[in-house]
Amino acid sequence: MASTGPRIPGRSAAAVPVRWRKEVERILITDRQIARRIRQMSREIQREFKGREMVVVSLLNGTVMFLADLIRNFSLPLRLDFMGVSSYGAGTESGDLVVTKELRLDVRGRDVLLVDDILDTGKTLYRVLGKIRALKPRRIRTCVLLNKAERRTENVKADYIGFEIPDFFVVGYGLDFAESYRNLPFVGVLHPHVYKLGCQKINTVPKKKTRKTNKKVGAGMRRQNHLDRRKP
Ligand code: IMP
Ligand code: MG
Repeated sequence: MASTGPRIPGRSAAAVPVRWRKEVERILITDRQIARRIRQMSREIQREFKGREMVVVSLLNGTVMFLADLIRNFSLPLRLDFMGVSSYGAGTESGDLVVTKELRLDVRGRDVLLVDDILDTGKTLYRVLGKIRALKPRRIRTCVLLNKAERRTENVKADYIGFEIPDFFVVGYGLDFAESYRNLPFVGVLHPHVYKLGCQKINTVPKKKTRKTNKKVGAGMRRQNHLDRRKP
């Protein structure tokens, strides 16, 4: 049943496209590697779910690209729903979990495929699995594009894993840093200078428009502009 993905080394030969070079240090997984691996995963998952009533539950927002590519390879009938769970503020360390969207489909007695972008500490999957189990599905299988096994703090495993990656903070192919970079077609490692920009300020709306807070927003906007300049 379960499959572990190929182990990705810290380097790849692929060059970062020029327009991303100032922000993305290197490409970890290319778009072609991703596409090939997702086709394999789809086949394995289909074999296991054949003849069952499948409900795909995907976690927002990081799974957008992975989910779309995964399910377009399925030829079995399925229903799709989303849960919103956010574990990061604007930084790179796991914070408190906030449920931003609850499941709407009834999964009782159904076979659920839970899809997430990356399994890191495991807090997100652990909590979401608890919520879904309480809804009494027939069974749940978990599927993640990336696994950072060395970061795990919770006792949780994924049944299907796209790639095993080292402990880098990665962006692209749906994964973000401070809500940016989701649109990159590859998975890459950010330049450390991007973290140092203090991105907490970027997406923060000031509570009061005092002279002081306006100044802070101005600084944040300048940083945001710096990031936006590099967008296609
Ligand atoms: P966990 O709860 O620590 O396992 O983290 C899972 C969530 O954190 C994922 O669904 C991602 O949204 C986010 N995350 C973890 N590691 C990374 C990363 O390297 N880049 C971007 N997002 C990440
Ligand atoms: Mg996520």
